[in-house]
Amino acid sequence: ALPKQVKIVEVGPRDGLQNEQAVSLTAKVALVNALADAGVTYIETGAFVSPKWVPQMADSGEVFKTIARKPGVTYAALTPNLKGFEAALDAGADEVAVFGAASEAFSQKNINCSIAESLDRFAPLIAAAREQNIRVRGYVSCVLGCPYQGDVAISDVVRVASELYRMGCYEISLGDTIGVGTPLHAQRMLKAVAEEVPIEHLALHFHNTYGQALANIAACLPLGVATIDTAVAGLGGCPYARGASGNLATEDLVYMLQGMGIATGIDLAKLIHAGTQICTHLNHSPRSQVALAELAK
Ligand code: HMG
Ligand code: MG
Repeated sequence: ALPKQVKIVEVGPRDGLQNEQAVSLTAKVALVNALADAGVTYIETGAFVSPKWVPQMADSGEVFKTIARKPGVTYAALTPNLKGFEAALDAGADEVAVFGAASEAFSQKNINCSIAESLDRFAPLIAAAREQNIRVRGYVSCVLGCPYQGDVAISDVVRVASELYRMGCYEISLGDTIGVGTPLHAQRMLKAVAEEVPIEHLALHFHNTYGQALANIAACLPLGVATIDTAVAGLGGCPYARGASGNLATEDLVYMLQGMGIATGIDLAKLIHAGTQICTHLNHSPRSQVALAELAK
């Protein structure tokens, strides 16, 4: 059955801006604050990764320290290892996320280690987070295809997702990193993972490279998934997946869910405003059909 309510995990400030050059601290902070003002309750605000690998996220600590924290909003951070976790804790992140992959080749390119090594690195991070009462989310990349290896077996997705869940991640976010999936494939993948990880602990994180993300989510909603990651204005991509475009635009998902009678708690007009504001800084128009349609009115 369709969920009555969907929790939107806004990843624009992290997944979006990790792919944009020279965005000022002021613009990053303004984006996070505008998203909270629009009613977004979960914002992935930055990443504590190596600044040599992703210089765009080097000022995440300052972003966390400068935002106006709104009660009821979770401000989360991406953390690949214990060093990143400690920096996130220092900055005041409410939650953190580790990120693994279902593809060996992508794991090597993105975090410079094998899937097995990545899980070994996450273990002490998850233990430290538990001690601090910080929840850990777990990403699995390349669940519907890999930019280096091509096809990815659903059994590999199930294996990595269930391992992260077993290790203590409270939610597993299934990433179509390069946006190649189509609806029936997405459904098959989600069904298979949901046999090992309860659906209420699963989230979908679909990039929109081939324009399929909304269709894929529509196909998966009847399976009961109720947490979806999106980026305002369709920002971003992954620096280690060339050609990958941004996540599905938050505006497009909110509009579709509203039409289906599914609550999100987000004010669409304010959300569109948050997206146009950051796009002015980035000097491109929003990659959201809904935002473009509303702005053309
Ligand atoms: P490495 O080079 O193997 O790590 O990188 P290392 O432990 O050998 O350290 C090398 C240097 O990095 C050292 O500094 C460390 O101190 C430093 P040096 O001695 O050379 O001066 N370092 C750090 N600095 C700051 N924060 C840290 C940190 N860790 C080490 N946390 C590493 C391994 C994982 C660090 C690196 O590969 C990395 O940072 N990768 C991040 C890549 C990334 O951010 N990708 C984008 C996000 S993932 C994504 O977008 C997908 C997702 O959206 C889901 C989807 O769409 O599928 C989540
Ligand atoms: Mg992503």
